[in-house]
Amino acid sequence: MVGDRELNQAVAVLRTGGLVAFPTETVYGLGADASNAAAVRKIFEVKGRPATHPLIVHLADAVQLANWAREVPEAARRLTRKFWPGPLTVILRRARGVSDVVTGSQDTVALRVPSHPVALQLLARFGGGVAAPSANRHGRVSATMAEHVRREFGAAVDCVLDGGETQIGIESTIIDCSGAGATLLRPGWITRRDIEAALGTSLAVPPADAPRAPGTLAAHYAPRTPLALVEGERAAELAGERARQGRRVAVLALSARRPPLEGLEWITAPRDAVGYAHALYASLRRLDDSACETIIVEQPPQGPEWAAINDRLARAAAGASAPEAT
Ligand code: TXA
Ligand code: MG
Repeated sequence: MVGDRELNQAVAVLRTGGLVAFPTETVYGLGADASNAAAVRKIFEVKGRPATHPLIVHLADAVQLANWAREVPEAARRLTRKFWPGPLTVILRRARGVSDVVTGSQDTVALRVPSHPVALQLLARFGGGVAAPSANRHGRVSATMAEHVRREFGAAVDCVLDGGETQIGIESTIIDCSGAGATLLRPGWITRRDIEAALGTSLAVPPADAPRAPGTLAAHYAPRTPLALVEGERAAELAGERARQGRRVAVLALSARRPPLEGLEWITAPRDAVGYAHALYASLRRLDDSACETIIVEQPPQGPEWAAINDRLARAAAGASAPEAT
C-alpha cells in the first residue's frame, strides 16, 4: 500500500532531483522532475538509454498540456478527452522551455495522463511534469511489479512506490499528433480501432522519416535469453525435441500441451488478450531467470485485440538467434 507518508517522501525525492519509480496502469515508470535536466539525465544513466531516445512526460491532468505543448490540434483534443486519464500517449509540438534532455532534442514532446491512482496522486502532489520511461534497463522487458524494479535497479533508484501488479501489463498506445493527421507510433491497450472511432477518420501509416521512437526499433522488450515465436503445437514439439537432447528450454504456451518431460520450464498463458497482456512481462522475466537456453513462445492469434501483444513479442524475438523453429 502507498500511503501519505510514502507519497510525500516520493514528492520530496522528485523536488530534490532524485528518481522515483511508480506504478501506472500499464507498467512501472522510472520518474524524475521533467523540468530538472540534471535529474532527467540520471534516468538515461541508470537505464543505459541513449540520449537521443525521448521520454514521456506524465501529467496530473490535461489542463497542464498548455505548459508542455505549443499547440494542441483537434485530433489530440478529442483523443485526450476520450482516453485520459488512461493508457494513451500523444506526441505534440513542444512548448518553449521543454528540456532537450526530455525530448532528445526533437521539436516534439510525448505526454500522458495515467489513470493509476498512485501515479495520479504522486503527480497531483508534485504539481509538475514527471518524465518517465518504463522502469527497465534499455531494451529489456518492462516492469509490472515493484519487485522487478528493485531487482533491476537496486539503490540506483531513490524511492519505489509499490502499487502492486500493474493492471494492463503492456505500454501505452502512442499517437503522433504533431503533424498533419494522426499516426500510430506504438500499438497498445487502446486499439487502432478505438482511436479511429474517436477521431472519425483512419490513422495514417508512419512515414519513413517518422520521429525516432526507440520502442519501435526492431529489437526491444527482450529478455536476455533468446526468444523464438513458434506456431501452435509446434512449440511443444520443439521444446520436447530439445528437452530430450538434455537441453533446458522455457516455454510460454497458449494452446500447446506440456510434454511429460524433465528440463522444461513451462508457463501456460491466459487465452484471452486481456489476461495474456497482464501476465506477459512477469512470465517472460520468470522464464528468463530459469537459466534456459531458449524461450519458446507460442504465437498468439492475430486479432486486433492481440496487436500490441504481437508487436511486443515480435520485437522481443528480433535479434534473438531463433532455433530451427518453423
Ligand atoms: O505505458 C507507458 O507508455 C510507459 C509508462 C511508464 O507511462 N512508459 C513507456 O515509456 O513505455 P518508454 O520510454 O519505455 O517508451 C516511450 C516511447 C519510446 O519509444 C519513445 O521513443 C517514444 O515513446 N517517444 C517519446 N517521445 C517521443 C517523441 N517526441 N516523438 C516520438 N516518440 C517519442
Ligand atoms: Mg520502455
